[in-house]
Amino acid sequence: MQLIIANNYEDMSKKASKLLISRIKDTIPLNLGLATGSTPVGLYKELVTEYANGNLDFEHTRTFNLDEYIGLSPYNPNSYSYYMWKHFFSHINIRKENIHIPPGIFANEQKVIDDYEEAIVQAGGIDLQVLGIGANGHIGFNEPGESLSVSTHIVELKSETIKANSRFFENKDEVPKKAITMGMGKIMEAKEILLLASGKEKAKALAQTVKGIVETHCPSTILQIHPNVKIIADKEASFLIADRIRASNNCILFSSDRMEQYG
Ligand code: PGA
Repeated sequence: MQLIIANNYEDMSKKASKLLISRIKDTIPLNLGLATGSTPVGLYKELVTEYANGNLDFEHTRTFNLDEYIGLSPYNPNSYSYYMWKHFFSHINIRKENIHIPPGIFANEQKVIDDYEEAIVQAGGIDLQVLGIGANGHIGFNEPGESLSVSTHIVELKSETIKANSRFFENKDEVPKKAITMGMGKIMEAKEILLLASGKEKAKALAQTVKGIVETHCPSTILQIHPNVKIIADKEASFLIADRIRASNNCILFSSDRMEQYG
């Protein structure tokens, strides 16, 4: 793991965009795994600006989103499909057929799961997977528990996730109780993983991710096993680990200057 500490949210977003821009330019076609939530909004904004300035081309980029709420159509402003179009896809030249988001409404659950897994396999796997992290250590909607699922699956959301995400809804009761999420299998098969974390609410989960024992009760700890993970976290999210991390043998702390390598 490599941990890069950013000064604040804007700095985290800029550093993350630098890495993505480099991959979008260098890997053709690029299979990009994408996340939603408040964390990557700034990253998408940076990429949209770069595209508007004529510095990026998404013609050969394929995207695979991590998850979607069950029961929400793409036209529902709280759906992750709506979010992706609002913050990113509407503003860039990505081909519609290259966008993959698990559906929130469907008739045949197993077919949806099989098709999503197959689409990733057919594309050749994910080159770069962008992740946020839940305060409970969830990745996508792979929630803490006795076990983790490898494949795409339907999940009952934990009460803490419903509470955390209720900020996007009118009230807590409106938050869907279930979601469909990519499993840990396809996430861990990604060639490269970029995890973003911002804010003190994420500090405990981030410390566990980097230094905790690998366990299903904190799904993000599994990332310790992946050979190519970069974490870009702002100072608030990394305050529990930043000053002690140099002593750790499973995580290398890079100063911000090292980000130049992605430029
Ligand atoms: P957030 O969510 O970016 O809205 O904090 C992250 C997550 O729950 O994975």
